[in-house]
Amino acid sequence: LQAVEAAVRHLEDDPTFDAGRGSVLNAAGEVELDAIIMDGSTLDLGAVIAVKHVSNPITLARLVMTESDHAILVAQGAETLAREHGVVLKPNWHLVVDRERERWHARRSGTNPDEGLFRDAPRGTVGAVARDTDRHVAAATSTGGTFYKEPGRVGDSPLVGCGLYADDQVGAVSATGEGEELMKVVISKSVCDLLRRGMHAQEAAEAGIALLSRRLTGRGGLIVLGRRGDIGIAHSTSWLAHAHVVAGEIRTGVEA
Ligand code: GLY
Repeated sequence: LQAVEAAVRHLEDDPTFDAGRGSVLNAAGEVELDAIIMDGSTLDLGAVIAVKHVSNPITLARLVMTESDHAILVAQGAETLAREHGVVLKPNWHLVVDRERERWHARRSGTNPDEGLFRDAPRGTVGAVARDTDRHVAAATSTGGTFYKEPGRVGDSPLVGCGLYADDQVGAVSATGEGEELMKVVISKSVCDLLRRGMHAQEAAEAGIALLSRRLTGRGGLIVLGRRGDIGIAHSTSWLAHAHVVAGEIRTGVEA
């Protein structure tokens, strides 16, 4: 849990990604964040939805799991818990970067924000999966959601089984992609079910992406960790940046 929280916090703090500061703006011009964390040894989970004043929603999701009687808290409810546990609430503009403000203005003025200046703007949901020396697994996922979403829109990321799943008996999965599509096939739990049937993590990741493309139009990406430490990475999005560490050795990649 510590490892996935730390990894996701790091990515939330990096404005490159659509998580934490630097996330895409909703139609009202605000950052609205979702995050979830899951403990594979207990199946405990914590999620926050539509928080607007917290830089590291993954840490707040973990507080929901450990410090509340609930699994999911939304908006002000989540932020009240944050305040009670000493998390500093920040003005929404603190989470907004110039790149995304300009993109939002371009969209408002009728320019296609996915052309020109913005076409190659890196963005995307972030996630992490980990296994410790006792073979316990955990997963974490964090996102700013989709660009110009309606305020209050909820995608796949903070929904258990969609944005992630973790179960010591099978492994851990974190997903990214078009949330409205990914949730239709409960993609992370579906991939865990394939792991349970004995698939290798890579095979299960590819089968998870095939689930999307076979019946739906959505694109997605998956990082998968089997209970034996096998690793799977697959995507139908145009690219997927990823990294993994095994016994201290770090490997990174961007797959297009
Ligand atoms: N997968 C992120 C979202 O659709 O919100």
